[in-house]
Amino acid sequence: MKNITFINNTFHLKTHHSSYVFKISEYGHLEHIHYGYLVSDLDASALSLKRNIAYGDQILYKDNTHYSLDIVPTEFPSYGRGDFNSSAIEVIVNGSYTTDFIYDSYEIKDGDIKINGLPSSYGAEETLIIHLKDEVAKLDLDLYYAIFPVENIITRRAILINHNDKCILNKLMSFSLDLYEDDLSFMELRGAWNKETHSIFKQLKEGKYIIESNVGFSSSKNNPAFLIKRNNTTYDDGDAWGFNLVYSGNHYSSIEKNEYGITRIQSGINPNRFTCVLEKEETFETPELVLNYNNRGLNGLIYNFHNFINRHIVRSEWKLKERPILINSWEGFGFKFNKFDLLRLARTAKQLDMELFVLDDGWFGRRSDDTKGLGDYDHNEDKLPGGIKALSEEIHNLGMMFGIWVEPEAISIDSKLYEEHPEYALREKNREDVFGRHELLMDLTNPDVRDYIVEKVSNLIDENNIDYIKWDMNRNLTGVSGLYTHNYIKGLYEVFDRIFTSRPHVLFESCSSGGNRFDLGMLCYSPQIWASDDTDPIERLKIQKGLYYFYPQSTIGAHVSASPHSQTLRRTPLETRFHVASIGALGYELDLTQLSNIEKEDIKNQIAYYKKHRKTFQYGHLYLFEDNDLREIFEVKTSETIVANIRKLYYAAPNIEKLYVKGLDDDKNYVVESRDYQLNIKQFGNLINYILPIKVNSEGVIINEVSKRMGMKASKQVYRASGKALRAGIILNSLFLGTGHNDELRLPLDFGSDMYLIKDNYESREEE
Ligand code: DGJ
Repeated sequence: MKNITFINNTFHLKTHHSSYVFKISEYGHLEHIHYGYLVSDLDASALSLKRNIAYGDQILYKDNTHYSLDIVPTEFPSYGRGDFNSSAIEVIVNGSYTTDFIYDSYEIKDGDIKINGLPSSYGAEETLIIHLKDEVAKLDLDLYYAIFPVENIITRRAILINHNDKCILNKLMSFSLDLYEDDLSFMELRGAWNKETHSIFKQLKEGKYIIESNVGFSSSKNNPAFLIKRNNTTYDDGDAWGFNLVYSGNHYSSIEKNEYGITRIQSGINPNRFTCVLEKEETFETPELVLNYNNRGLNGLIYNFHNFINRHIVRSEWKLKERPILINSWEGFGFKFNKFDLLRLARTAKQLDMELFVLDDGWFGRRSDDTKGLGDYDHNEDKLPGGIKALSEEIHNLGMMFGIWVEPEAISIDSKLYEEHPEYALREKNREDVFGRHELLMDLTNPDVRDYIVEKVSNLIDENNIDYIKWDMNRNLTGVSGLYTHNYIKGLYEVFDRIFTSRPHVLFESCSSGGNRFDLGMLCYSPQIWASDDTDPIERLKIQKGLYYFYPQSTIGAHVSASPHSQTLRRTPLETRFHVASIGALGYELDLTQLSNIEKEDIKNQIAYYKKHRKTFQYGHLYLFEDNDLREIFEVKTSETIVANIRKLYYAAPNIEKLYVKGLDDDKNYVVESRDYQLNIKQFGNLINYILPIKVNSEGVIINEVSKRMGMKASKQVYRASGKALRAGIILNSLFLGTGHNDELRLPLDFGSDMYLIKDNYESREEE
């Protein structure tokens, strides 16, 4: 019992900086006491609810007492004995909805305990299991608490065991938690295709807020992760609680503030349309819920989540390993390519020092557009004479890794597979099909379908020496029940297990129309996830910032693509595209062969810089800053610190701009150096005539040609300052004002950016 004490009927679970306390009440309920700041065992009584009187209309559990379940916070509340707030369980036994779970016994096990058929975290130090019983309903309920002391994480989940001939389960949450705090706000990630994971903060008032998905997957509409904070908690100070579910199907979380100021938080599988009949001695296991508390503000919460995911969720040989810089064929070529185009792209990528070539959609069967071919795995001989094997060999001969796109869960009506196995398609009887991106999904609850996918994808990997798989899925589930969805997701997890567990060398990146399935369940199999089809760096600021609260940079696929951007038509500098994508698993997704020499030179420099600091970019401690209309700042830190300062809009006669750096040692001295890059001279329009010896047409052929060969160097900025000064914020060089130009001015532009490297010990550096 390293992290758990059991004294006076009270369990106290401890991480390095948090406490989770509950006791067995006088009537045998598991009464929640405290989840938050690290306290001592002796504090339990002071922290407990005082039951000196009951409210006038409350149902009393025992007459002539003050014990009402409407206010006594239980670890797993249920309906029928006086609690009128949200129940964590809804089960019908012999026509009755009432359950009343009473403490029976507990066990403590070293390490973690796996969940049947669902992925979960690993490497917990200890797991506490509490056995509860309802003798009348003939149900047992086991509550699991796994402890990760170093990461300050506790995970929870539940198992229901039915001893009746039958019972009907409509809802079983993974956890429930009551907080007695008056001044709370919460933040959720909302969005849609192309604008996933925007973070939205809301003040918590009386009422019930729902965070949920009904599309069959964790969804881009509403990610399962959310957080609660005190209203005055900032990025760097104050209490915050974070929650995330290890699950990829329909999820549901409710945050309910009741009339007594108690906030009840629950998460689990979405109970909408979910009905499961349990036969005698059958069990139902919930997914795992990750709980994170800290008192060092939102950045403290981020630190815990990132460490936990990198160490206890991500698996395979890619765990904590630096991720390769990839070139992906999709945005450059779409479906229109042949082997010659691909090899030209790969050779250019190699010249620029990229490491992994990814052939995206369009390589197989009849797949000349997105109306056909899904389900087939034979290469298209017209596009790829010699097949994938030959291409893979040629890419490997260039000294690059080779990766390929698949969408194994989907089937096109116009495909060989459909002609042979129409029954593999998931459809509603007696109704016309409805389509998403012209496709149907396959019935992953059918073992034949799972075998087909496992065989095809495993062979593809093994026969063609494939190093990386991009596993896409572009259609939501329709016309099925919540239980079907759950079984589909379990089928998918089984498929992942069978393909990837024995092939830990394969880097698996999952994707679902961008970020429609960005969740901890997927991260148990795929070390990285494609965050969004929107690669416009200014849009990505919102998408990636939202993700950073809950997911580490190493898991976030982020690419540099072409400008103007194919979805927003926004023009952005190449450097900003890089600066944003670098705070993630970096890739490039554009036709490199179309770039000018100067752009290629820039990209080569970007890649050299990224490789030099890759550990910091992918695994560094990440800090966020307050939202600001004009710029976004991301900081990542190992023994060195990098700050990306991204301007959203430039405005005339700008304010003085400061650079703030968090997490430094106050007493050390640092040197701050801006990253060198070149600006495209075309961005300066007619101003270029002020510095050129001859007058030229700023839109003309000459400037066009010169801009392909020559850039304008961004000013080199070097500052020296103590950790204290950097915490207070040092003043950066002046911005361009339109009144003149010299080498020290920063040329910000709309959507322009700078990146700063901060290293300590500048005295010794000067001697170097
Ligand atoms: C959707 C993905 O999000 C894109 O990155 C790309 O792989 C396309 N599918 C290919 O069809």
